[in-house]
Amino acid sequence: MATQMRNDRGEGRDAWILAGIGQLATMDGDVNHGQGAGFRIAAADSLLIADGTIRAIGRAADLTARFPDATVRDAGGRLVTPGLVDAHTHLLYAGHRAYEVGLRAVGKTYLEILGEGGGILATVRATRAADDGEILAATRARLRHALATGTTTVEIKTGYDLTPEGELRLLRLIHQLRQEGPQRVVATFLGAHALPPEYAGNPRGFLQAIAAVHDALRGAADFVDIFCEPGVFELEEARVYLEDAKARGLKLKVHVDELHDAGGAALAAALGAATADHLAHTGAEGIRALAKAGTVAVLLPGTAGYLHQGAMANARAMLAAGVPVAIASDGNPGSSPTSSLSQVMPWAASWLRMTPEEVWVAVTRVGARAVGREGLGRLTVGGPADFVIWDTDDYRMPCYEYGHNFVRAVYIAGRRVAGS
Ligand code: NIG
Ligand code: FE
Repeated sequence: MATQMRNDRGEGRDAWILAGIGQLATMDGDVNHGQGAGFRIAAADSLLIADGTIRAIGRAADLTARFPDATVRDAGGRLVTPGLVDAHTHLLYAGHRAYEVGLRAVGKTYLEILGEGGGILATVRATRAADDGEILAATRARLRHALATGTTTVEIKTGYDLTPEGELRLLRLIHQLRQEGPQRVVATFLGAHALPPEYAGNPRGFLQAIAAVHDALRGAADFVDIFCEPGVFELEEARVYLEDAKARGLKLKVHVDELHDAGGAALAAALGAATADHLAHTGAEGIRALAKAGTVAVLLPGTAGYLHQGAMANARAMLAAGVPVAIASDGNPGSSPTSSLSQVMPWAASWLRMTPEEVWVAVTRVGARAVGREGLGRLTVGGPADFVIWDTDDYRMPCYEYGHNFVRAVYIAGRRVAGS
């Protein structure tokens, strides 16, 4: 078998074995028994990798006997997991909003800052004024940090231009970053992120102008999103906008119930959205609707904690109802200034009361489902060799100790792209 693989498919040359794995967390357990059951430690200590995929999972002695030409690297008894999938970020922008820290300290809320022309609109001004090179350089730096902290797949939203042409420009920049790699990049069009001053008092007119480019998004944007929140875009406005996108064959994600329970989760479910994101204020009715529709809940505990405006998503009720729960960073310059999903894992465990097993499944396998890349976020024979070696032998550590980067090395498609 080994000889045949080498001769017929040339795998002898670049096949390699990662041996000496302490805990190999594959995330391929049966989630029908609950999200935590999706977490599984394999009874194996080695992976055979060739052509960007995992070719075998087993014991080192067996794999080296079967593939004698393969190079062997030693994981030193460490934890190995799939690469993290960050299913919700706004990492493409210019500038920063450090001045908001002082405003929040004197009691200004997120929506008050936005209402006064700051917040998202401040980043819109900075991004409109920046040339492509500046935006790309700033975003590359964020993606490098994401990679160094374990993120191998990242969803990036547009949303900091708020003109039809400008939003398409941001989408092109996301494509350029996807082209450059090494991370796998998912592109979401969030032209409806806030109401720009040019359309003050006319949200419907603005949404119509943005929707005019929906046809151009087919094949270019993986998803269309909108910030549905009282005071930003109301439920009915979001419904009309999203129905238009859906009718044009686009897949949906929705920012809902971040700061109020305005029925956003039920809207996402009714429209068959792939995900409903935030959900900090979603009540029992919204959770039932998500469960029935099979919509993935993308929870962002870093955002709720950072804004510190009260509610945390009711993850326990969602999990009990059978809603698949992803955890994402929401990396953005206002409500969650980070590009690291792994740094959010302790907050998911502590603030959302998720078990380490549930958190791991949320940042890998369910995250992959949330971005429509079901093959990612698991370590399976035949699947992509995207994985992280963590500097610990205990999978609970990254859910426990905050502010520490446990990442030792990161691999995408079998190639080391960060660490040593
Ligand atoms: O998901 N809520 C809307 N959008 C982002 C924040 C964007 C920003 O403040 O720049 C979020 O929290
Ligand atoms: Fe967001």
